[in-house]
Amino acid sequence: MTSQEIYDLIQTTELDGSDWHIFRDVENVFLIKRDTPEGDYVYMSSQIWKNGSHDVMIEAAVGDILIAGLGLGYDALAIKDKPEVTSIDVVEIQQDVITLNAHLADFPDINIIHSSIMSYFDTNEKLYDVIWMDIFPGDISYFPEEKDILTTAANNHLKEGGKLLFWRQFAKLSL
Ligand SMILES: C[S@@+](CC[C@H](N)C(=O)[O-])C[C@H]1O[C@@H](n2cnc3c(N)ncnc32)[C@H](O)[C@@H]1O
Repeated sequence: MTSQEIYDLIQTTELDGSDWHIFRDVENVFLIKRDTPEGDYVYMSSQIWKNGSHDVMIEAAVGDILIAGLGLGYDALAIKDKPEVTSIDVVEIQQDVITLNAHLADFPDINIIHSSIMSYFDTNEKLYDVIWMDIFPGDISYFPEEKDILTTAANNHLKEGGKLLFWRQFAKLSL
C-alpha cells in the first residue's frame, strides 16, 4: 500500500525548486513528502510521535496554550477541539515551515506567530496556562546550555499554577 492510499493529500507547495506534499491520515498522522528532480522521499512524519511523547502535552492542555515549534502542526491540531482550551499560540522561527503549513489557515483558532521563541518572550507579555517547548532539534543550542535561560523566560510567561513542559522530558527516544 502506498502512502497516497492511506493518507489524504491536503496541500502541495512549491519551495526551493521542489514540490512538497503534506498528507494526513485518519489518526492525525502527518507526513511531508518532497518531490525533487532526482526523486521523492519522506521529509518528515509525525508517525514516531505515536510513542506517547506528545500525549503529556495534549492531556495537560487547558486554558491559554503556547506551543514553541510548529513543525507539522500536530500538537495544535490535536488540542484545537478540546473544550478546556481557550487560545492556541504557536511560535515558529522558520517561515518555510509556516508556508508548508498554510492549510492551517482553515483553523483560525490556531494563531501562528513567525518569531524565535526567545524574541517572542522578550517582546510579549501574554501569560499562559501551559507552555509546550518543542523546538528541538531546530535550535539545538538551547539544549542543554541555554535551557536555563529559556526556562526562566518561559516561567515568566506562565499564569499562577501554569505548567511548563519540555518535549525532551517525555521523549522515549534517545536522540
Ligand atoms: C519538532 S518540530 C515541532 C513539532 C510540533 N510541535 C508539531 O506538533 O508538529 C520543531 C520546530 O521548532 C522550530 N524551531 C526551532 N528553533 C526554534 C526557535 N528558537 N523558536 C521557534 N521555533 C523554533 C523548528 O523550525 C521546527 O519547526
